Amino acid sequence: MKKILVTGGAGFIGSNYVNHILNERDDYYIVNIDKLTYAGNLENLSSLANHPRHVFVRGDIANRELVNYLFEKYELDHVINFAAESHVDRSIIGSYEFFRTNVLGTNILLETARKFKVKKFLQISTDEVYGSLGKEGLFTEGTPLSPNSPYSSSKAGADMMVSSFYHTYGMPVVTTRCSNNYGPFQFPEKLIPLMILNALSNKELPVYGDGMNVRDWIYVIDHNKAINLVFEQGKDGEVYNIGASNELPNIEIVKLILSKLNKSESLIKYVQDRLGHDRRYAIDSSKIQSELGWKPEFTFEKAIDYTVNWYLSNEKWWKNIISGEYQSYYEKQYGKK
Ligand code: NAD
Ligand code: DAU
Repeated sequence: MKKILVTGGAGFIGSNYVNHILNERDDYYIVNIDKLTYAGNLENLSSLANHPRHVFVRGDIANRELVNYLFEKYELDHVINFAAESHVDRSIIGSYEFFRTNVLGTNILLETARKFKVKKFLQISTDEVYGSLGKEGLFTEGTPLSPNSPYSSSKAGADMMVSSFYHTYGMPVVTTRCSNNYGPFQFPEKLIPLMILNALSNKELPVYGDGMNVRDWIYVIDHNKAINLVFEQGKDGEVYNIGASNELPNIEIVKLILSKLNKSESLIKYVQDRLGHDRRYAIDSSKIQSELGWKPEFTFEKAIDYTVNWYLSNEKWWKNIISGEYQSYYEKQYGKK
């Protein structure tokens, strides 16, 4: 049995991972630590109530004593680190928590994992560490790190630390860098769910700048399958890019969502651009494809339909979210734009 510390497993990607993998594998025992920040939600894990191989612990990865206690108590031998402050706009409003969780928290996990001699430490990172592309080219694993936002710089700091633990101590670490995810349980501060929910409520859809910034979209299940392949078969010390070669300008996504919901494009409002807004991301995922045999299974057309339908049929989930802290965040972020 693999005894895995999954961090941030009540967030968007982490909860999809835990829900998926416990169905797939009967040799995984998961201790899921999540601080339950605004982005963590136990409802994302409701299908796992009383699951014999899932333990949820509300806690902070930057709490050294707690992390040490969990390693001891559950004899953990693997780590998958999803936990992070993950939203670029929030990192522009204030960056302290980003560095506290993403850098210090990762350091505490690494040091504890080293002490307990884990068999694998998987760092979930992002393509944003590479910075921004012009019209041409793709991010490869060899692209120099050049992060532009407080969020991406905190993730790049963590990536470098992870790599240093391989070089210095020979720790069995591996890192994935994925492009933009979408799918069920994504917090509605991110482009796709925010636009779906605003359209459903006939609210303005705030498009930053000229709407022509490009992101490379991947369905969360494809990302999670790639993560598990890297977790099981990735080479120590290596980085694997993950992406589905699906580049789209933001405005096209926004228009697509409006058309799927039969809403008018007059809801679109171009607003002041994000500070330091990266223009284009695009991932070359040929390494994971050729070395580990991964490829994306979902087409964008199919998975965006599924995602829109998920939000349509899970009104209770998102109504709970948008009634709380979300309101004051929304006012701060969009009120003056
Ligand atoms: P999310 O914001 O939805 O979830 C993050 C989770 O981490 C939340 O449940 C939150 O409560 C938890 N958390 C935050 N601080 C914590 C702390 N100090 N201790 C314990 N738990 C804490 O984020 P997500 O979109 O699911 O992203 C997960 C990971 O994937 C992040 O590391 C992110 O950088 C990376 N990533 C995300 C994307 C994307 O498109 N969303 C793409 C590539 C990589
Ligand atoms: O590339 C991977 C990254 O993707 C992850 O590391 C991050 O955790 C994740 O949040 C995401 O970052 P982005 O900044 O690309 O995602 P976001 O959904 O915030 O924005 C996507 C694009 O849409 C971006 O160009 C900004 C634009 N946008 C976003 C919002 C929230 C708008 O035009 N209007 C908006 O209201």
